[in-house]
Amino acid sequence: MRARHKKHCAERLAACKEILILSPEDMKIIPYGIELGCGKGAFITELAKRNPDKNYLAAESNKNVAVTAAERVMASINTDEPINNIRLFVGGAERLGDYVKPGSISRIYINHPDPWPRRNHEKRRLSYQSYVHMYWNLLCDDGKVIFKTDNRPLFDYSISSFKDNGFDLTDVTYDLVNSKYYDSDIISEYQAYFISKGLPIHRFTAVKLPEFVFRDDIDRDFVTIPKIKERNPDK
Ligand SMILES: C[S@@+](CC[C@H](N)C(=O)[O-])C[C@H]1O[C@@H](n2cnc3c(N)ncnc32)[C@H](O)[C@@H]1O
Repeated sequence: MRARHKKHCAERLAACKEILILSPEDMKIIPYGIELGCGKGAFITELAKRNPDKNYLAAESNKNVAVTAAERVMASINTDEPINNIRLFVGGAERLGDYVKPGSISRIYINHPDPWPRRNHEKRRLSYQSYVHMYWNLLCDDGKVIFKTDNRPLFDYSISSFKDNGFDLTDVTYDLVNSKYYDSDIISEYQAYFISKGLPIHRFTAVKLPEFVFRDDIDRDFVTIPKIKERNPDK
């Protein structure tokens, strides 16, 4: 699904600047958890509400989508239930290494990432080896990545990629809704849509193996979202 161009997007984002991370100097908190590709923010706002004692960072590369997440958080600030524990990074997840201290993050959440099914787009997948390597570096020794998707080929690919690159997998389910993990689950926008269509949701938890030694030839490069956008300005 392609995000529509939002009118006055830049001005609307600027109005949310108190929660935006615009430069590494704005990172005054150490987040407990990061959501990558947060979309319109349903998941991260509910997670932050349930855990008011923890700080969260949400990353979203598409500003036309991020603006909805930012306004959702801002709208709560003057209510009885203000959400004061989310900061939003409007940019590609691949840039987080410049913003977040290595070894400092406890949880990374990836909900229904773009599947990029074509083989020559593999490097764009958020479970490609260079991303997994970055997650390993950002996570603390007992850190975890919680990954959900409706896309079975992407799920199978991601299981292999995490296993090959410094993680052990637990709590794997191919049918989250009918599993014991569903009671505590927080549903994202895409997840709600796929559930409404009767599609199974796949989920795993990847646990960092702190002693893992990476192969010398692991790909550490990223195909960054800005570069993709330059080629496909409509994407
Ligand atoms: C399919 S949507 C899912 C949104 C949300 N996680 C959900 O489950 O409802 C994928 C989102 O990830 C964002 N995205 C894709 N690649 C990204 C990247 N490298 N860094 C940050 N966000 C990314 C897209 O702009 C899009 O909003």
